[in-house]
Amino acid sequence: MTTEKLAEGPPMRAIFNVLIERFYDIFMSVYIYNEHRGYLYLDTLVTALEQKYPEETGFIAAVRKHGNDEHVHYKMFRRWFENRGRMPFVVTETSGYCDQIVKVFFRKTLTEIDPQVVLADDEMFFKLCRLIMITEMRALKQVDILLASRLIKSKPALYKMFQVVRRDEPSHCYPYRDWLAKHGQNLPSRSESLADFYTHYSLIFFKIPLLYLNFRLKRTQHFLA
Ligand SMILES: [Fe+2]
Ligand SMILES: [Fe+2]
Repeated sequence: MTTEKLAEGPPMRAIFNVLIERFYDIFMSVYIYNEHRGYLYLDTLVTALEQKYPEETGFIAAVRKHGNDEHVHYKMFRRWFENRGRMPFVVTETSGYCDQIVKVFFRKTLTEIDPQVVLADDEMFFKLCRLIMITEMRALKQVDILLASRLIKSKPALYKMFQVVRRDEPSHCYPYRDWLAKHGQNLPSRSESLADFYTHYSLIFFKIPLLYLNFRLKRTQHFLA
């Protein structure tokens, strides 16, 4: 058998399949981590809004719907892992978009920017609204890229899930945009957009590849609640 034939044979294909399946697992581990961070934070934001602005029922309902959508995305991604019979890889704050953009905006961690503290300061809350808007605009762009990519098109289950995300995503910006407009505030600034650019591309070109290449990276023992 020639070397060429060996390279095309089943062992090479098996290795390729393992590597590509690892890519899907890593990539979806980052996604599910972000969905989880997102819906938990939005749940606490709803509670804080109900206390501070009980009369703002429309805004609260919109933020609640946003949180519920992110929770649905989380459950969908979780089911995808369950159906594969695998757990997500351990992803930490270092590789989470939400955590990293919060760090750049507030110089604090997501856990440190408690919604009650944020709501006590109007400027801080406006900043949070702009941050959520930027995050959602980024998510929308990202989903469009994924839906057009062969990597996702070739996996019907993934494609279907990202279609659901694509359907929900545009509405996630509106409540925060409307709140800013209602209070005479500007939309995200150029430097804030730059922060998003930096956060996103450092994840794509640096942090996610590092996760992929870390063959000691463990899988989670349990799904996050
Ligand atoms: Fe989502
Ligand atoms: Fe979203």
